Amino acid sequence: MFKMPSYVITGASRGLGWEFLRQISSDSNNTVIGLVRRKSATEEKVKGELPDRTNIHIVEADITDYAALKNAAVEVATITGGGLDYLIANAGVVSHFDAYDPIGVLGHQPETLEEELTECFKVNVVSNIHLFNLFMPLILKGGIKKVIAISSGQASLDIIPKLGIEVAALYSISKAGLNTAVAKFSAQYAKEGVLFMSICPGMVETGHFVDATEEQMQGLRAMLGAFFEYAPNFRGPVPPGAAVKDVISVMEKASVNTGDGGSFVSHYGNQQWL
Ligand SMILES: NC(=O)c1ccc[n+]([C@@H]2O[C@H](COP(=O)([O-])OP(=O)(O)OC[C@H]3O[C@@H](n4cnc5c(N)ncnc54)[C@H](OP(=O)(O)O)[C@@H]3O)[C@@H](O)[C@H]2O)c1
Repeated sequence: MFKMPSYVITGASRGLGWEFLRQISSDSNNTVIGLVRRKSATEEKVKGELPDRTNIHIVEADITDYAALKNAAVEVATITGGGLDYLIANAGVVSHFDAYDPIGVLGHQPETLEEELTECFKVNVVSNIHLFNLFMPLILKGGIKKVIAISSGQASLDIIPKLGIEVAALYSISKAGLNTAVAKFSAQYAKEGVLFMSICPGMVETGHFVDATEEQMQGLRAMLGAFFEYAPNFRGPVPPGAAVKDVISVMEKASVNTGDGGSFVSHYGNQQWL
């Protein structure tokens, strides 16, 4: 019997997570569960922007709160009937402290550096490890068994030196940790048919630089200049719609059998990051 696929998307309140929720729920066969920090606000947004989507469910949990995540897993199992086909670990913190300066300059504020790195690590790595462990019983009961972490090409050891990307050090370090966690989960669970992989959505316009000063924008333009040289077809940040479409396509094509388990790839499904 055809079974309707179920999805959990973390960080579904805005940005890429909201776009995953929007695109995936456009197929009424999909049961789509958005995990968010403030349920009422996202429910209002769904009511306003996607009013007819009865296949959308919103569940509340701050992913840094283990007990809340555990309750969320129970609530999701109630909605789906026990299993889960896709888990998209999209929620993440993007540090603004490290966005414009190299790591040596961040070092002039050692306490803030430590606080920000710890925060990035807690949200982007530790919380996702808890998320994966708590949802694994559901995934093992699911038919499709795919766990996708939304990572960043900023963590690629290939392009940091090639393009000399100095900024976003703390964020990148945390995404590298996430990629390794994903590979370790894959090492354990691929034999049970679970695909774990990390996918970068590309550079996406979700409003991260709206408050940047002119001086900060100059630094960013330098990085964009390096991006243009690296990828002549790159035209700057893309809208979430295009990025999410690409990520879904990579996720759909990937499988344990084709050797994708534990990999870290771009929205093209390879090591071309832009
Ligand atoms: N935008 C890009 O160019 C880009 C590039 C590469 C990778 N990524 C990755 O893609 C993902 C989404 O990025 P985005 O640009 O859409 O970011 P965003 O607009 O800043 O949204 C972040 C999302 O994560 C949620 N979140 C943050 N901390 C959380 C926590 N402790 N518990 C639960 N939810 C939490 C936020 O919820 P609230 O609304 O409650 O704050 C929000 O829904 C992130 O993992 C990011 O690192 C983005």
